[in-house]
Amino acid sequence: MEKTFVMIKPDGIKRGLVGRIIERYEQKGLKISAAKLVNATIDLAEKHYAEHASKPFFSELISYITSGPVMAMVLEGPGAIKLARIINGATKVEDALPGTIRGDFATSTTENLVHASDSLESAQREIALWFPEIE
Ligand code: CMP
Repeated sequence: MEKTFVMIKPDGIKRGLVGRIIERYEQKGLKISAAKLVNATIDLAEKHYAEHASKPFFSELISYITSGPVMAMVLEGPGAIKLARIINGATKVEDALPGTIRGDFATSTTENLVHASDSLESAQREIALWFPEIE
């Protein structure tokens, strides 16, 4: 069964959207195989977003992700990696379609509520990074 790493970001927790966000994944058949609230350190956030280190928004992104707890999850199911990203919607707020989490709830490209791994390689790396205890 395919596994992916999904994170509800600090704005999702602060806005009280955890239940409604998780429901979106569950109603499409994804199962929660691990979940925990994490106050990410700067080191963890920088490792997670290492591929964006050279981007102009990197420091804003790290401040945002470490601004409060995130809900880190491993979701599993057939095609989980692609499915979670479809459920999340496009990264850019103006491109996120209604019916997706970002399309329905996000108002900013940085504070876009959710993250999901973009490939099998990313999923394995991110699950190991956030859930070293289950590897
Ligand atoms: P995520 O899917 O977690 O992957 C990288 C994150 O960087 C993204 O969600 C946004 O939170 C943020 N991000 C991506 N592009 C931009 C951008 N152009 N400006 C600001 N933040 C961005």
